Amino acid sequence: MLKGLALIGTGIWLLFVVSKAYAGRQRLQNSGFTRRYPHVDTLFGIDLLLQVWRDFHRGQLAEGMRRRHERYGETFITTELGSPCVYTIDPENIRTITTSQFEDFGKSSWVGEASKHVGAGILLNQGEAWKQSKTLLKPIFAHSTFGDPVLVEPHFQQLAATIRSHGGRQVDFQDLAAGFMLDTVSDFLFGSSTGCLDAGVDSSEAEHFLACIKAFEPPSGMFMAVGALAWIELLPSYRRLIRVVNGMKSFFANRLDAIISSDGTGCVQSSSGTSCFRMMKTIGVPVAQIQAELKNIYFASFDTSTALLSNVVEILASRPAIQQRLRDEIAHLGDQAPGRNDLAKVRYLRYVILEALRLYSPVTSHSRRALVDTTLPRGGGSDGLGPVTIAKGTTIIWSTYALNRSPKHYGTDWAEFRPERWEELEGRCSHFFMPFGSGPRICMGQQMAQAQLAYVIVRLLQNFSAIESSDSRPFREAAAVSFYNGNGTLVSLRSQWR
Ligand code: HEM
Repeated sequence: MLKGLALIGTGIWLLFVVSKAYAGRQRLQNSGFTRRYPHVDTLFGIDLLLQVWRDFHRGQLAEGMRRRHERYGETFITTELGSPCVYTIDPENIRTITTSQFEDFGKSSWVGEASKHVGAGILLNQGEAWKQSKTLLKPIFAHSTFGDPVLVEPHFQQLAATIRSHGGRQVDFQDLAAGFMLDTVSDFLFGSSTGCLDAGVDSSEAEHFLACIKAFEPPSGMFMAVGALAWIELLPSYRRLIRVVNGMKSFFANRLDAIISSDGTGCVQSSSGTSCFRMMKTIGVPVAQIQAELKNIYFASFDTSTALLSNVVEILASRPAIQQRLRDEIAHLGDQAPGRNDLAKVRYLRYVILEALRLYSPVTSHSRRALVDTTLPRGGGSDGLGPVTIAKGTTIIWSTYALNRSPKHYGTDWAEFRPERWEELEGRCSHFFMPFGSGPRICMGQQMAQAQLAYVIVRLLQNFSAIESSDSRPFREAAAVSFYNGNGTLVSLRSQWR
């Protein structure tokens, strides 16, 4: 009897899934797109998902997307588990989604799942909740000290000491960058460093946290790439994943407890100015909400900044001519740490950072989901430049990796790392160069991130006379959320004059 019921239930469910997929295919056919992905499996689109899965494991997730755009055009429609999914690198479409029709699009469905674990805050919130987070954090970020040269210096000193302790031998700079960034971000969020790079401090808790983060990178990258299908591969390691997630959660809970108990009011003075925690506590934000916001800011800032710093160090190490030109540019400073004004004048460094944000940007793609039936300006008509209709529930994915490699915007030498191109491009590229996103949800830390990066690069060049690569393999995309070298950033840094 039970067996019979189960069979009937499964039959009804299958019927529902197939009819939903069929309706999705009808919608797809009526949507007016000029270009369609040539699916083998036109009902569910499993073929493309499997391709994405393979790309992810081969370290070619972003590159796979670029190749598909090269083949199928700037905007094309696909089906993903029976629902329409649009890929676009047309800046007109991207601006429409992020800016002019902002209210029509929400974040993709994985965000709801992530929010259950991370907490509801600025990065993961949507609608009214996001507006409230933004109103709360805007003045806090305006007073923030994250990228302030004077306040980064103590953390840089720890980084330099750690590098020296390796005596010029090979290091994986990603590990050092992660320790440096956790120290700085913790200072910014909680008002105290984790001391990851401080030899005199017991940082075992922070190191455990970093290990959890590292273990969580591949599964979260896979989720972002193939969605719920990732469970097929991850289910056997479910218990281990839960331990990793709990390890990350308890790090935040413990740090907050430590801060609150360190002073009766819960308002501690940051060692580097005023912390986000202190500013929120002072205006009476409940502790649970503070914790969720801090975690959201952490997830927005730590991984992206760690990846970009590592990528820039790799660029310098593997391109001696660029490194030398930077050394020449800052030679007038001698050993003196640069101030804000000095950093504003180092033009070539700015171009190097912009070029790094073009070819080695930590964020390679974005996605949104249509909240209502709506339109996009490009993708239809005989030439693909006419409007298209977008059904509610459609996922739109735009690859900044592919956009940043488009010959249309960067010419035939788009693959070359050539900072000089920014002499021409800077100031007239904002409509197609968006490494920090665009519209109301643009990165809130973009100035801080760039200021901090510029400072650290200048200080590394001042403190180490040679930064050399010890890895001749080509850059390989890591199986992770952010874009960094899956082989590690293997470099040696020496200070011969010391
Ligand atoms: C190189 C470093 C960074 C890169 C490439 C980067 C990139 C981005 C991008 C592309 C977004 C938009 C995400 C979307 O539209 O869904 C974003 C959002 C955000 N970023 Fe960054 N980010 C960086 C560093 C930082 C830092 C250092 C902070 C804070 C100190 C920060 C705070 C935020 C916040 C709070 C948001 C959410 C904004 C919102 O949804 O309203 N980011 N970031």
